[in-house]
Amino acid sequence: MSLAARARRRLAENLRRDGTLTDARWVAAFRRVPRHVFVPRFFLPERGRWVAVDRSDPGWLPTVYSDSVLVTQLDDDPHRWAIARREGPVDGVPTCSSSMPGIMAVMLEELLVADGHRVLEIGSGTGYNTALLCTRLGDENVCTVDIDPVLVASARTALGQLGHAPVCEVADGERGFPAGAPYDRVLCTCAVSRIPLTWLEQSRPGGLIVTTLNRPIGAGLVRIVAGRDATGQGRVLARDGRFMPLRAHRLRDNGANGTAAVPGARSGQARTTELPLTTVVSAASRFEFFAGLALEGVTTTPDPEDPASSCLVHADGSWARQREEDDGRYVVEQGGPRRLWDLAEEAYDRWHGLGKPGRDAFGVTVTAEGQEFWLRDPDSPHRWPLAPS
Ligand SMILES: C[S@@+](CC[C@H](N)C(=O)[O-])C[C@H]1O[C@@H](n2cnc3c(N)ncnc32)[C@H](O)[C@@H]1O
Repeated sequence: MSLAARARRRLAENLRRDGTLTDARWVAAFRRVPRHVFVPRFFLPERGRWVAVDRSDPGWLPTVYSDSVLVTQLDDDPHRWAIARREGPVDGVPTCSSSMPGIMAVMLEELLVADGHRVLEIGSGTGYNTALLCTRLGDENVCTVDIDPVLVASARTALGQLGHAPVCEVADGERGFPAGAPYDRVLCTCAVSRIPLTWLEQSRPGGLIVTTLNRPIGAGLVRIVAGRDATGQGRVLARDGRFMPLRAHRLRDNGANGTAAVPGARSGQARTTELPLTTVVSAASRFEFFAGLALEGVTTTPDPEDPASSCLVHADGSWARQREEDDGRYVVEQGGPRRLWDLAEEAYDRWHGLGKPGRDAFGVTVTAEGQEFWLRDPDSPHRWPLAPS
């Protein structure tokens, strides 16, 4: 058995053993599809910049078969990898990656596919996830689209090397892909600020849509059941997943642009607080999803005083920052038209009053009139807009 075959067996086995993969057919697909064919080159982070790596570098193969995200494009620029290879580490924001296999596995399992299902994948990227779908469902049942023609060309080539020929086209996934409809499943491997109605229109009634949400606080994974006439209802899933946003949803629609200036130290009102910032903004915190709902329009930005820490900011110029004193007390400063930290504390009290619901206590309803989250029951009086209208 080749080194690559051994490495991918180990990856599949690790995902099975840690409980990420539970369906034997997905374990078999991960065992079968060689990830290295889809990521001949990528970037690795080093001291805040990106280093270009390819198969000639030591450690390339073990990295490919680790449970890691591999960034393959920066700033939508197809030439950046060659520049970094020639001139050394570069700056940039990832715009394509082969996602963490563990997150891909979660999303593929949450799609609840059955033999013969037709799937639309939005965000072909490297084509690795497409190959997993083709292996499980057959090429004839898979359509994949990406907005970037260079990525589509290389995904097609890599898929072809393994004998796969699904429909793989350049298209804006926000419009779905009507030519292949109707679909039993829609899987979006980038994050959206709201659910495009086209996905519901192009799904069979009862079909499922799995996507991550692009929210500044409390992102997450949702599964929506398509109804009739471009409607849908679903749940936020307990298993979390965070992806780069759909191109058109990058900064739009969140109601906050993160550009509110945070002044220097001790320029706002300072006081102590019992609530650590991590409880509000950390993905590991049970409160985070509710905080994202309650603090509509609030986002996080690195603290200019301490870039390792974050501040809360709102586009209206409001801001709040927190520091931990040597004696373990948390001190918060806030300024601008609204007291964002006071709002965070009020939200925390309200969350306690509601029984401390985790992310999977929330659901979502999508109609042409609007998109809303609700708590526990679609008719609940506790409701929040998915995206500001
Ligand atoms: C995380 S990557 C996808 C990873 C991919 N599934 C894989 O296995 O390599 C996100 C992809 O979404 C694509 N994308 C962004 N906006 C899009 C849009 N509006 N329509 C289709 N694809 C889009 C990006 O070009 C990028 O390739």
